[in-house]
Amino acid sequence: MINPEKSFKTWWDNIILIATIIVAFETPLMLVFKIPIQGKYLIFSLVITLIYSADIIINFNTGIRNNGEMLLDRGEAASRYIRGWFWPDILAAVPFELIFIATPVFGLNRIFRIFKIIRLFKLMRISQTLNKFKTKNIINPSIFRMFILVFWILIATHFIACGWLFMMDYPKTMSMFDSYLKAYYWTATTVTTLGYGDLTPQTNGQMIYATFIMITGAGMYGFVIGNIANLIANIDIAKAQYREKMEKINTFMKYRNIPHELQLKINDYYNYLWESRRGYDENSVLSDLPIPLKTDVSLFLNKEIIEKVPIFKGATGNFIKDIILHLEPIVFTPNDYIVKKGDMGTDMFFISKGSVDVVSEDGNIVYATLTSGQFFGEIALLLSSPRTASIRSNSYCDLYRLDKSTFEHVLHRYPEFETDIKVLAEKRKAELQNGI
Ligand code: CMP
Repeated sequence: MINPEKSFKTWWDNIILIATIIVAFETPLMLVFKIPIQGKYLIFSLVITLIYSADIIINFNTGIRNNGEMLLDRGEAASRYIRGWFWPDILAAVPFELIFIATPVFGLNRIFRIFKIIRLFKLMRISQTLNKFKTKNIINPSIFRMFILVFWILIATHFIACGWLFMMDYPKTMSMFDSYLKAYYWTATTVTTLGYGDLTPQTNGQMIYATFIMITGAGMYGFVIGNIANLIANIDIAKAQYREKMEKINTFMKYRNIPHELQLKINDYYNYLWESRRGYDENSVLSDLPIPLKTDVSLFLNKEIIEKVPIFKGATGNFIKDIILHLEPIVFTPNDYIVKKGDMGTDMFFISKGSVDVVSEDGNIVYATLTSGQFFGEIALLLSSPRTASIRSNSYCDLYRLDKSTFEHVLHRYPEFETDIKVLAEKRKAELQNGI
């Protein structure tokens, strides 16, 4: 059985995609220009029949994903295929060219020719393949959706233009290119509701066709414009949301006469959030995930801090997992007091980016400077005592906060961590007492 998620099937789907796009453009042209199916056209048609037939065989032997589980059972996969895409696939694979060869009488050949259009059923299949590209995340999903929209517009307008050619019966003296160009121009002016009126229907049939296209075309145009506006607005949804948020905040600050200096500081803060994490609040983005998945994502996102903090480095996987889900990212602006001497402590902090000073209550004496990979705020939690010093940020600081209950839980479960942290806390306390 073929695994649908492996590269062979992906390649095969891409071949079907290319073949179907060519068929979608070629089939209506062959019909309206009444090109006999012989020579190179016959060979092309046979190749397509062969590819489409091989596709049916491959699909019968391809596993399917059911409720998140890969089913590689031939019977089950085949029965599902027969209940689903088998019918459009089999219709597209009918060897029409062989029927044309077998019906040389001109009249019959002409009648059968119309059946070739059945091949276009295969178009229904390719949206699946196109959608697979989306999950690969190669380009922005909105830009990708825009490409898909343009693709379907090109196919639809090509069909309408071919329909117009069929109705118009342009003189044989006019070249195929000229007549197609005229028909496509008519389609474009009609579908976009411009309607210059330079190409007009003459017969009743043409008039009915033109009316039908005008009515459906106007709807199609509206749909396309609506979609494009929506897609453009969503190209950078994070940026759009950030801009909206900033507008709200700035309007509020102006309305409440917040001092100019403070306004600048707030803008600077949001700017930093945008620069450092595109305005995303990681916790809320991941809040819907089940715990195991959330742990995996958190481990990946917090890889840096795990590698930076020495006491995490040699720790067991379980310890890291226990702690990681409870680390809350938090940002401080320069000169913020993160911890005030004498306050009761409820959290400790790990520094991911930036640096802080350990200072006296009035902020005049600097005892130590802590940087990326170091932590602070553990003494108050260990001893359930007031903070022994104040902590002031020197720059923008990306910290991770760990709350007291998780800290105690971790201490209880992992005695080696308790020993490490206690040793450091004692050393720091002694240094403080010695006035270093
Ligand atoms: P805590 O007392 O909770 O709050 C202030 C924090 O400053 C303290 O925990 C320690 O984490 C940190 N701290 C105190 N003294 C020093 C020092 N000498 N060197 C580094 N950090 C210190």
